[in-house]
Amino acid sequence: MTTQPIGVFDSGLGGLTVVRALQRRLPHEQLVYLGDTARVPYGTKSATTVIRYASQIAQFLLALDVKYLVVACNTASAHALTYLEQTLPIPVLGVVEPGAHAAAGVCGSGQVGVIGTLGTVDSGAYQRAIQLMRPDLTIFSQPCPLLVPLAEEGWLEHPVTSEVVRHYLQELQAHAGNLDTLVLGCTHYPLLRQVIASEAERVFGHPVKLVDSAEATAEAAEGDLRERNLLSKARLEADRFFFTDVNRFAEVAGRFLGRPVTGAELADLSI
Ligand code: DGL
Repeated sequence: MTTQPIGVFDSGLGGLTVVRALQRRLPHEQLVYLGDTARVPYGTKSATTVIRYASQIAQFLLALDVKYLVVACNTASAHALTYLEQTLPIPVLGVVEPGAHAAAGVCGSGQVGVIGTLGTVDSGAYQRAIQLMRPDLTIFSQPCPLLVPLAEEGWLEHPVTSEVVRHYLQELQAHAGNLDTLVLGCTHYPLLRQVIASEAERVFGHPVKLVDSAEATAEAAEGDLRERNLLSKARLEADRFFFTDVNRFAEVAGRFLGRPVTGAELADLSI
């Protein structure tokens, strides 16, 4: 039934940037979001742990009758997508492939940068996905572990954030002198887009194209749902937002979604 909801999950609140993009592109779809705020961050955890968390969340969302699953978390997409695809009875879309596709489409210089969590960068998932589409490209990756807490604190234009972004981009530049495309391979980075753009221009000496995997994922989800004949013609119910912890929730969540999150529900994953 096409009016069934689309499930979306992330390690925490950052995936609301993907919800925002999905809401803009698919206004007739009901979304059910699960943010694993009790166990965030995933970026520093092992693949085994992330796969276990992702599969618990998928079961929770399946019990709510979702027709399609979007893994909004880059780290979970990098570690758990194959497992979810092989074990779930519904189609699953991660953020890595759409982001990689967008990067492969715009890169002119032959060099692409990818920034993300330690887990995402260590997994090599973006590298593999981009090279599969454009074997001619060279990919340089840089983990940026301090950017998630800075974005959550709302230090979006703070001088400390500029300094930290510059430091990471200088590390990247030491390997990749001439890149013209940078993938924002983490749910939190779209919030830091402005500072990343200006520091990238400063460090690389020319404007750098930023690829936002949230937008690319929403576009890919629309195409995939259409192809599978799963698009809903009319939304019957409001979106639902579940979290595994709601401490310090409202302010940060609103920042990611672009407006207040109303009616947040506490999720019990011990199902
Ligand atoms: N959602 C994560 C990601 O996109 C960032 C936060 C975390 O480390 O859990 O990789």
